[in-house]
Amino acid sequence: MLWQLAIVTIIVNAVAAWSPTNSYAPGNVSCADDITLVREASGLSANETAWLKKRDAYTKDALKTFLDRATQNFTNTSFVDTLWSTGQIPKLGVGCSGGGYRAMLSGAGMLSAMDNRTVGANDHGLGGLLQSATYLAGLSGGNWLVGSLAWNNWTSVQDVIDNRGKDNELWDISNSLLNPGGVNILSSASRWDHISDAVEAKDDAGFNTSLTDVWGRALSYEFFPTLYRGGEAYTWSTLRDADVFKNAEMPFPISVADGRYPGTEIIDLNSTLFEFNPFEMGSWDPSLNAFTDVMYLGTNVSNGTPVAQGKCVAGFDNAGFIMGTSSTLFNQFLLQLNTTSLSSFIKGIVGDFLKDLSSDYDDIAIYEPNPFKDTPYVASNYSQSIVESENLFLVDGGEDGENIPLVPMLQEERDLDVIFALDNSADTDEYWPAGLSLIATYERQFGPQGEGLAFPYVPDVNTFVNKGLNTKPTFFGCDASNLTSLARTPPLIVYMPNNRQSYNSNTSTFKMSYSSNQRMHMFQNGFEAITRNNMTDDSGFAGCVACAIMRRKQESLNITLPQECTQCFKDYCWDGKIETSGAGVSTVGTYSGSISFQTDAASATGSSSSTASSSSKQNAAAQMYPTYSTGWIIGTITVLGSVLGLM
Ligand SMILES: *[C@@H]1O[C@H](CO)[C@@H](O)[C@H](O)[C@H]1NC(C)=O
Ligand SMILES: *[C@@H]1O[C@H](CO)[C@@H](O)[C@H](O)[C@H]1NC(C)=O
Ligand SMILES: *[C@@H]1O[C@H](CO)[C@@H](O)[C@H](O)[C@H]1NC(C)=O
Ligand SMILES: *[C@@H]1O[C@H](CO)[C@@H](O)[C@H](O)[C@H]1NC(C)=O
Ligand SMILES: *[C@@H]1O[C@H](CO)[C@@H](O)[C@H](O)[C@H]1NC(C)=O
Ligand SMILES: *[C@@H]1O[C@H](CO)[C@@H](O)[C@H](O)[C@H]1NC(C)=O
Ligand SMILES: *[C@@H]1O[C@H](CO)[C@@H](O)[C@H](O)[C@H]1NC(C)=O
Ligand SMILES: *[C@@H]1O[C@H](CO)[C@@H](O)[C@H](O)[C@H]1NC(C)=O
Ligand SMILES: *[C@@H]1O[C@H](CO)[C@@H](O)[C@H](O)[C@H]1NC(C)=O
Ligand SMILES: *[C@@H]1O[C@H](CO)[C@@H](O)[C@H](O)[C@H]1NC(C)=O
Ligand SMILES: *[C@@H]1O[C@H](CO)[C@@H](O)[C@H](O)[C@H]1NC(C)=O
Ligand SMILES: *[C@@H]1O[C@H](CO)[C@@H](O)[C@H](O)[C@H]1NC(C)=O
Repeated sequence: MLWQLAIVTIIVNAVAAWSPTNSYAPGNVSCADDITLVREASGLSANETAWLKKRDAYTKDALKTFLDRATQNFTNTSFVDTLWSTGQIPKLGVGCSGGGYRAMLSGAGMLSAMDNRTVGANDHGLGGLLQSATYLAGLSGGNWLVGSLAWNNWTSVQDVIDNRGKDNELWDISNSLLNPGGVNILSSASRWDHISDAVEAKDDAGFNTSLTDVWGRALSYEFFPTLYRGGEAYTWSTLRDADVFKNAEMPFPISVADGRYPGTEIIDLNSTLFEFNPFEMGSWDPSLNAFTDVMYLGTNVSNGTPVAQGKCVAGFDNAGFIMGTSSTLFNQFLLQLNTTSLSSFIKGIVGDFLKDLSSDYDDIAIYEPNPFKDTPYVASNYSQSIVESENLFLVDGGEDGENIPLVPMLQEERDLDVIFALDNSADTDEYWPAGLSLIATYERQFGPQGEGLAFPYVPDVNTFVNKGLNTKPTFFGCDASNLTSLARTPPLIVYMPNNRQSYNSNTSTFKMSYSSNQRMHMFQNGFEAITRNNMTDDSGFAGCVACAIMRRKQESLNITLPQECTQCFKDYCWDGKIETSGAGVSTVGTYSGSISFQTDAASATGSSSSTASSSSKQNAAAQMYPTYSTGWIIGTITVLGSVLGLM
């Protein structure tokens, strides 16, 4: 009698989107007796569809403003008006690659060039594109960027710049998160105590924890500095209640992670690719083909029905935990914690991974109970092991070699005309991108997980380097008529690689702290990298971006684009030619067998780096330090993961 009363009081109503425990621990909530938490991935969710209606109304005006400005020098702009009067409004997506803090900061500079709130972006940048985008996807370091902006009421990089040096500054990473207090050792110690308490509370509530919980908690203090203890109780689904999201004044954010089959360590293009959006998490891939309501992750379910009728769990979808899930490769960084003085609880977690589980598991985030347990939607000729397992293991979204989160935006239902692929990967031995991620996504469409995907042709990595396609913006898939052998016409890809303008933005993926000054340089270089150096290298570049945006609609309407576009496509489209010979490969390095973390902001060159040696992370690290020999071919990327995994 008494305990029944106790349970009734504990099961609070699921109105508040923050964790019901008001802490990091998930808690019990009541839900409808007949609730079904999982659906087949047969189309967009009803909620996304409803949200898109509002967003479409917003982007319609924002994009018109951008195109009118970008095409102001064209001899004939009646084309834009034709599109608007016929309701053929192009749809845009933006993808932010992984690559640690380099990707976050350089990516922030790039996004700022597309954001009409940035000083100068409308004058010598691409201001307004971000306002015109329907989707904004992030992966690993790119997800830190997308997540921090979106879950801080859609703040802007300009705000970050303006609030430099103030309290609760976003992205204050002057000190490594291992030692957040800097010289103030007590402050670091108390931070780590709080992190430990939080993760322990989740553990006490009966949920499995892993290094990713610790990692996500530690990151959150940098991403949610205004919230109590870095947003301990702040959830991913909370965004549904934020006005800026409800009013569709921001793009639809998507985070990407990879699934690991139970009992395996291999991540490759056959792995299941998961997305988290404000409504749902799940996968379009035939190997899962299902989505679940992200708010009720942690609920014990069978085929989407709570095992205990009317009882759900909420608060598992902690915002920092999901941002950590997309970036688990960095869990390795935490293994250095051993050397600092920490609570025995965290040492225990670290110890478990070092001893019991071994480093083969140091990159997982545990989602247990498995939200997809016993769901029937896996395509018939695929392994059922994911839906049969008690748990779901997710890892860094870049571990399959696709370091730009494009796949969610390539879904036919999302109906995009153009995707801006912001690439801050470290493909070469000097940590510049070289198109590897595009090659991997191109390959994926022909593999078992590629059902229904379409992605334009891209050249091999040597051609990327030899032709300099990785040193300035390049358009892929410019002619739909050349793409008829693909599953359908893919969006046009505007590839925007990190490249040097005013700063050496090719910092190591594992550089774990940046001074305020270094952050500003990274922002500025990112802005310049995607604007042809503030349009000084090509005053007509904004017009060329406009041509790329309008291209698919023009093709489907079979009308003529402004004549200026012809020259633009000559200048920026990959012409389909390859140049595999020559010195291209020599700029690409070989994975050295260890990951080097730099923890001192003052030393951009890494004089005080410490090295976490690992024998098991080649597979993951391949994405950041690929291994090639002369004569490397596109197909290699598909076997790279498995070969290295056997070594
Ligand atoms: C939540 O509910 C489960 C059973 O459904 C129970 O085992 C657990 O103790 C409850 N947690 C709390 C904090 O009440
Ligand atoms: C940015 O674009 C949005 C959407 O068109 C518009 O509402 C807003 O006023 C613009 N802001 C600035 C500073 O130009
Ligand atoms: C501008 O182009 C449209 C076709 O897109 C054409 O009908 C119109 O006559 C052109 N206007 C001028 C002034 O050339
Ligand atoms: C390019 O524009 C950005 C943003 O307005 C500015 O911060 C930067 O200094 C400019 N770069 C150059 C070389 O003028
Ligand atoms: C977002 O804005 C609301 C209302 O102004 C505020 O209560 C909340 O704390 C803000 N959230 C964050 C993460 O800053
Ligand atoms: C999760 O916790 C349960 C209970 O402690 C344990 O049996 C299970 O093996 C754990 N799962 C993982 C993946 O560690
Ligand atoms: C979708 O919207 C409906 C109605 O607003 C709501 O009841 C439901 O919980 C939402 N589902 C998700 C996954 O957001
Ligand atoms: C961490 O500490 C434990 C003992 O406290 C030790 O056995 C282990 O080797 C240490 N690991 C590293 C990576 O230093
Ligand atoms: C229009 O032309 C002027 C003069 O060449 C140039 O400075 C400006 O950047 C151009 N604007 C656009 C949007 O192309
Ligand atoms: C597109 O228009 C051109 C002339 O403007 C015509 O020759 C061609 O057949 C048309 N193509 C299609 C597919 O309608
Ligand atoms: C598309 O086809 C045209 C002619 O068929 C050719 O000139 C062009 O180079 C092709 N483009 C690509 C990217 O293959
Ligand atoms: C992916 O699966 C296909 C078909 O099962 C197989 O042929 C291919 O080798 C696999 N690729 C990798 C990288 O394991």
